Amino acid sequence: MMFRRVKPETTTGISIVNHVKSLIKKLLMVFGWGTIKLMRLSAPIRKRINPRTLVTAHLFRSGNPRHPNAKAFIEVLGNFDGRPLQILETGTSAWGADSTRLWDEYVRYAGGHVKSVDIRSEPSEQLKGRLSRNTHLEVGDSVAFLQRLADKSELADLIYLDSFDVNWQDPEPAEIHGEAEFKIAMGMIRVGGIILIDDTPTPEVAAQNGICPPNTREEGSFRFRGKGARAFRLVEQNSNFTIFFHDYAVAFKRIK
Ligand SMILES: C[S@@+](CC[C@H](N)C(=O)[O-])C[C@H]1O[C@@H](n2cnc3c(N)ncnc32)[C@H](O)[C@@H]1O
Repeated sequence: MMFRRVKPETTTGISIVNHVKSLIKKLLMVFGWGTIKLMRLSAPIRKRINPRTLVTAHLFRSGNPRHPNAKAFIEVLGNFDGRPLQILETGTSAWGADSTRLWDEYVRYAGGHVKSVDIRSEPSEQLKGRLSRNTHLEVGDSVAFLQRLADKSELADLIYLDSFDVNWQDPEPAEIHGEAEFKIAMGMIRVGGIILIDDTPTPEVAAQNGICPPNTREEGSFRFRGKGARAFRLVEQNSNFTIFFHDYAVAFKRIK
C-alpha cells in the first residue's frame, strides 16, 4: 500500500506562512512605534496633528492595522481640527483598539485630558508608565464613573463608550448598560462634541465581520444591535444630536 506524505508538508507550509505573517505583524508594529516616536519628536515644529497618520500609526503599533474602527477614529478626530480635547472613555485599553493610548497620543500633541475607567484593574496596570500625565485612569463601574463626573458638572468634547462586552447571541445586557452610559453622556457632551460608541455595526458591516445578532430585522427594516443600539431612539427624540458616522461603531454629534 502507498501512503502520500501530505500532512507533514502541509503542516510545514502552514507553519512557514504563520511565521511570515507574525514577522510582518512585528515589522508593522515596529513601523507604527517608530512613526509615533517621530511624530512626538517633530511635534514642536508641526502645525497640526493629522488624524489619519495618528490613527494608522497607532493601530500599527498596537498590532491592529485592520481594526474595524480605524475609519471611525479618523473621522471623529478629524472633527476637532487639532484642538485640545477633554476625552472620557469607558472601557480602558484591553482586547480592542488600544483606544486609551490613541486618545493619550492625541492629547500629547493637541492638549487636553483623558479620563478612562474600567471595572477590572488589569488594563490600568498594563498601561502603567506608558501614558502621558494628561491621562488619568480609574477602576470602577462606568455608569457610576460618568454619573460622578456629571454630578460635578464636568463636560467633554469626546466620549468613547466601549465598556460592557457584547455577547452577539444575547446583546441585550450590553445594550441596557450602553443606554445607561449614553443617557449620562448626552448631558455631558459640549456642542460640537461627539459620543462614539463601539460595537454597534450596520447590518452590512455586521455581516462582513461574521456577526449575526438576533432580531435585527424589525417591520421590514433593520434595527441595530450592540452597545449603542438604544442610543438611536434617544437621539431620534432629541434634535440636539445627529448621526455623524456609522459603520462598525456609531458616532453621534451634538449640533446645538
Ligand atoms: C472591549 S474592552 C475595551 C477595549 C478598549 N476600549 C480598547 O480599545 O482596547 C471592554 C472593557 O470594558 C470593561 N467593562 C466591562 N463592564 C464594565 C463596567 N460595567 N464598567 C467599566 N468597565 C467595564 C471590561 O473589563 C473590558 O476591559
